Amino acid sequence: MVEFRLPKSSRIEQGRLWPKPGGTSLREFHVYRWNPDDGRNPRLDTYFVDQTDCGPMVLDGLIWIKNNVDSTLTFRRSCREGVCGSCSMNIAGQNTLACTKSMNEDIQEGEPLRVLPLPHQPVVKDLVPDLTNFYAQLALIEPWLQTASPTPQKEWRQSHEDRAKLDGLYECILCACCSTSCPSYWWNSERFLGPAALIQAARWINDSRDEATGDRLDMLEDPFRIYRCHTILNCAKACPKGLNPGEAISALRLKMVERKF
Ligand code: SF4
Ligand code: SF4
Ligand code: FES
Repeated sequence: MVEFRLPKSSRIEQGRLWPKPGGTSLREFHVYRWNPDDGRNPRLDTYFVDQTDCGPMVLDGLIWIKNNVDSTLTFRRSCREGVCGSCSMNIAGQNTLACTKSMNEDIQEGEPLRVLPLPHQPVVKDLVPDLTNFYAQLALIEPWLQTASPTPQKEWRQSHEDRAKLDGLYECILCACCSTSCPSYWWNSERFLGPAALIQAARWINDSRDEATGDRLDMLEDPFRIYRCHTILNCAKACPKGLNPGEAISALRLKMVERKF
């Protein structure tokens, strides 16, 4: 029989209520906690962040909690500028970057802010997803310039027009917000490459300097790797950089058809 509920050991339980600090501007955070070493179910801990004592973004709030309330809270971050892609998580129901999402955006006054790891990935600890499969898929598309011609004395040159063909693709920071919001990726993440790896594939296939286009398109000729995209466009909605992986995937599919004629 099909089981629609999560197994008992995965169900999220109510967690600890941490003490309220003083201050008049508090934001209530409900944060996913899971530790592989304590044998307990995942839970949602409640914290109160003093907004007058930290920056305005969700990441600022998490750092404030870690520094002032609970040093065991675990999350990834690096640049805090929206360029490294490491702080992606599910905030108020939307996959996004914690460092560019305001604590007060999309939340009614008095409502708690729910912070969970990116969905449909194994969890390493708390807000840190295990992206091993995601990175293996990126490696599969070989995201580097491949050439057969002799290396030029200076640089590989490109016209302004050809360079413009990379716009909307090269800006991807590999945060995984798109892939982990894609229903096709949820159900087939072992075989469908997902929007993030595919927008990277498009970035190299569209590069006028790259000479491996045929091999790259051959690699995508598979019933799952690209054709599992059903153009639902959750990916475009989720992308914190405003990119549209679904559109890039459609353009790739067109190229795959065109080369057969
Ligand atoms: S457009 Fe394709 S890749 Fe994007 S969410 Fe939909 S199925 Fe996934
Ligand atoms: S396309 Fe957007 S959401 Fe997807 S990995 Fe790149 S930056 Fe992140
Ligand atoms: S910390 Fe680098 S994108 Fe958020």
